Amino acid sequence: MVRLTNFIFFASVVSGALSSTVYARTVHSVPIYKKVSGNATSSKALMARDLARFNVDVAAAVGEAPETNDDNKYVAAIQVGTQTFELIVDTGSSNTWVGAGTKYTPGSTATFTLELFKVTYGSGSVFGLEYTDNVQIGGLSITKQGIGSAITSPGITGVDGIIGFGPVDLTAGTVTGLTTVPTVMDNLLSQGTISTEVLGVSFAPENGGDTNDANGELTLGGTDPTKYSGTITYVSKTTASPYNKYWGIAVSNITYNGTSISTSANAVVDTGTTLIYLPTAAYNSFLTASGGTTDSTTGLSSWTTLPTADLALSIGGVSFSLTPSQFTVPAAHSSTAVDFIIGQKFLENYYSVFDTTNSRVGFAPRA
Ligand SMILES: *[C@@H]1O[C@H](CO)[C@@H](O)[C@H](O)[C@H]1NC(C)=O
Ligand SMILES: *[C@@H]1O[C@H](CO)[C@@H](O)[C@H](O)[C@H]1NC(C)=O
Ligand SMILES: *[C@@H]1O[C@H](CO)[C@@H](O)[C@H](O)[C@H]1NC(C)=O
Repeated sequence: MVRLTNFIFFASVVSGALSSTVYARTVHSVPIYKKVSGNATSSKALMARDLARFNVDVAAAVGEAPETNDDNKYVAAIQVGTQTFELIVDTGSSNTWVGAGTKYTPGSTATFTLELFKVTYGSGSVFGLEYTDNVQIGGLSITKQGIGSAITSPGITGVDGIIGFGPVDLTAGTVTGLTTVPTVMDNLLSQGTISTEVLGVSFAPENGGDTNDANGELTLGGTDPTKYSGTITYVSKTTASPYNKYWGIAVSNITYNGTSISTSANAVVDTGTTLIYLPTAAYNSFLTASGGTTDSTTGLSSWTTLPTADLALSIGGVSFSLTPSQFTVPAAHSSTAVDFIIGQKFLENYYSVFDTTNSRVGFAPRA
C-alpha cells in the first residue's frame, strides 16, 4: 500500500502595484504506481481492451514493443470511509466506484442514496448501489463524495475500482435519479479544499522488469514543478464531438522524421488507455514513411530494420516527440467516432495537466 503525502512549496507573487506578498501554496500529491498483470493474452487483446473503451474496432496496429501484452494500469490508494482501495486513475471516465476486489463495507459516514449506478466501459462494466461517503486522497478530505459500490464488475480485475478524473458530463445517465454526479475534483473545488480544479499527472515508465513501484504522482489543485521541466504548453479542450465529452484536444500536426503525416486531428487524452492510437490515414502514412508492415498475427507493425526517426505530435504550437523506443503506436482501422487516443505510452514521457477550471489540457517535458 502506498503512503499519501503532502508537500509544500513557496511561490512569491507581486500582488497589485503597491505590495509584494509571499505566500505558501499547498499542492497535494498522491503517489501512483503501475500494475502489470500480464492478463492481456496478446497485443490484440490489449488493443481490443483499449479501444473498446471508446467503442472502436481494432484491425491493425503498429509498434515495436512485444511487452505491450502486459495489461498496464496506473493505480492510486484512496480511502473511502475507513477502507483503503486500489483504484485505476482514469481521465477517460468520471464515476468513482469501489468493490471490484475488496468489497465496500458502508460505515457510519456512508449514506445509501437509494439509487443504482451503472457504467459501461466497453472493455468491462460495473453495476451497483450508489452511496455518498467521505474520501481521503492526497491528505485531502472530501465529504459526501458519490461512490458506487459494485455488485458486479465483469471485465475489471486486479483492482478495487476506478477513480474518475474525466469531465463530469461523462457521469450523465450513470446513476438513477441524478443528472450528473460531481467528480472527486469537482467536490475538492466546491468544498473549498483546492482553489483551482487542476489535476497534474506524472507517469513514469517502469525500468526493465521492475513493477509496482510508486513511480508516478497525481497533483491535486495545481501542478508539481519538480515533475516537469520548462513550461507547460496548454491547449483548449476541443469543441468537436465526440471528443468534447472527454479530455479531447486538437493536435495540429503529426510528424514522422519531421515530415507531416496528418494535420488537424482531434484526440482524447486518456490515462486509462495503454497505447497511442492514430487516425487511419496517419497510421498508413506512418507505415509508409517508416517502411513497416502490419503483422497480421500480433496486430503490431513489423520492420526488417527498426525505425530510427521520431514521431511527434504538435499540440498548442509545440512539438512533443517520441523516440522509437518510446512509441508504440497502434491504429484503429475503422471510421468510428474516436480514432485518436493519446494513452500511457505518450503520457509516460510528458507531464500532463487536466485543467477543468480553464477547460484546457497541458503538457510539459518530464523532469
Ligand atoms: C487475470 O485473469 C483471470 C481470469 O480472467 C482472473 O481470475 C484474474 O483475477 C486476473 N488477474 C489479474 C491480476 O487481473
Ligand atoms: C506540419 O509539420 C511539417 C513538418 O515540420 C511542416 O512542414 C508543416 O508546415 C506543418 N503543418 C502544419 C499545419 O503545422
Ligand atoms: C529522415 O529524413 C531525412 C531527410 O528527408 C532522410 O535523409 C532520412 O533518411 C530519414 N530518416 C528516416 C529514419 O526515415
